[in-house]
Amino acid sequence: MPRSLITGVGMYVPPKVVRNDDLRAYFDTSDEWIYSRSGIKERRWVEEPASTAELGYYAAQQALERSGKRPQELDLIVFATLSPDMYFPGSGVLLQHKLGLDTTPALDIRQQCSGFVYGLAVADQFIRTGMYRTILLVGAEIQSTWIDYSPEGRTVGVLFGDGAGAVVIEAAENAHRGILSTHLYSQGAYARELCVAEPSSATRQHILPGSYGMRAYMNGKEVFRHAVQRMGEAVQEALSAQGWQAEEVDLFVLHQANIRIVQAVAEFFGLPMDKFYNNIHKYGNTTAASIPICLTEAWEEGRLQPGSKVILAAFGSGFTWGSVALIW
Ligand code: COA
Repeated sequence: MPRSLITGVGMYVPPKVVRNDDLRAYFDTSDEWIYSRSGIKERRWVEEPASTAELGYYAAQQALERSGKRPQELDLIVFATLSPDMYFPGSGVLLQHKLGLDTTPALDIRQQCSGFVYGLAVADQFIRTGMYRTILLVGAEIQSTWIDYSPEGRTVGVLFGDGAGAVVIEAAENAHRGILSTHLYSQGAYARELCVAEPSSATRQHILPGSYGMRAYMNGKEVFRHAVQRMGEAVQEALSAQGWQAEEVDLFVLHQANIRIVQAVAEFFGLPMDKFYNNIHKYGNTTAASIPICLTEAWEEGRLQPGSKVILAAFGSGFTWGSVALIW
């Protein structure tokens, strides 16, 4: 059975840097409040008008170039996002067209902060069964356009940023490297603890008086509590599946929602923070893009070498969570 090997990584973040203090133009907030609770110093925002598929395209171009693949060699595109260009269709088909492709299949994954982990699991299954040999997986988000800039929006609004990351995944025969195991979970009982409820098929939003369009709701403390527990469980499951001790893993890449979540997981396993790749201070929470952006920067810094043992884990809206164990 072929293994799935990540052969190229890429990322794109818009050039506009928005520092915590810059947010005071919109919210009653402070650098101290944001940094001490989340670890975020700044994030990137697009200049409007912008397109999530376009951000994904820039990241994809870099990943393709680094893997030495042409778009025409792709068998499948998987696009993870909570902020698609359109209500439907998904952004995958828009990216497919931007890449100059004619009929290559494209599918969107709507698992929010767990989108990239879910996407890897999906790609891995297509490769293991032999159906596809070369897959492009993209996580891309534009969140600055849905942020609620009213006073009620400040808790959510200060946490999120825009950006994109991409990987090319290829089938490798007789490989000792690649994706070893994936574990996925969801728990819809908590769907309303972190959601954007409108626009919705349940309401005729455009004619409702007082309709406010998109507005994210987050029960921060509840989300935090579950994130720490589930992320820890997901990491443990990846370790157990491989029979690895936590100490022998070279790099953990956890979804970047809050540095305190990563610190709590590190503490649980008795690991130093330098085993965890973090860049939330620069980009905030970029949802489905956060893990591939981390992978790209970690690779550029030489922290991912052939043979490196890596665990990825994510938790997010849904609730959804999961982990991946791989050898780079
Ligand atoms: N600036 C200043 N004050 C703010 C604020 C902001 N941007 N947002 C909220 N506050 C205020 C609240 O109104 C509240 O005030 P009150 O106590 O007078 O009612 C207070 O800060 C709440 O602070 P605290 O209890 O210290 O917040 P917290 O420790 O729960 O941290 C989060 C808040 C959002 C950072 C934290 O709950 C969290 O990270 N949750 C998980 C988020 C997450 O991971 N989301 C994505 C999942 S993938």
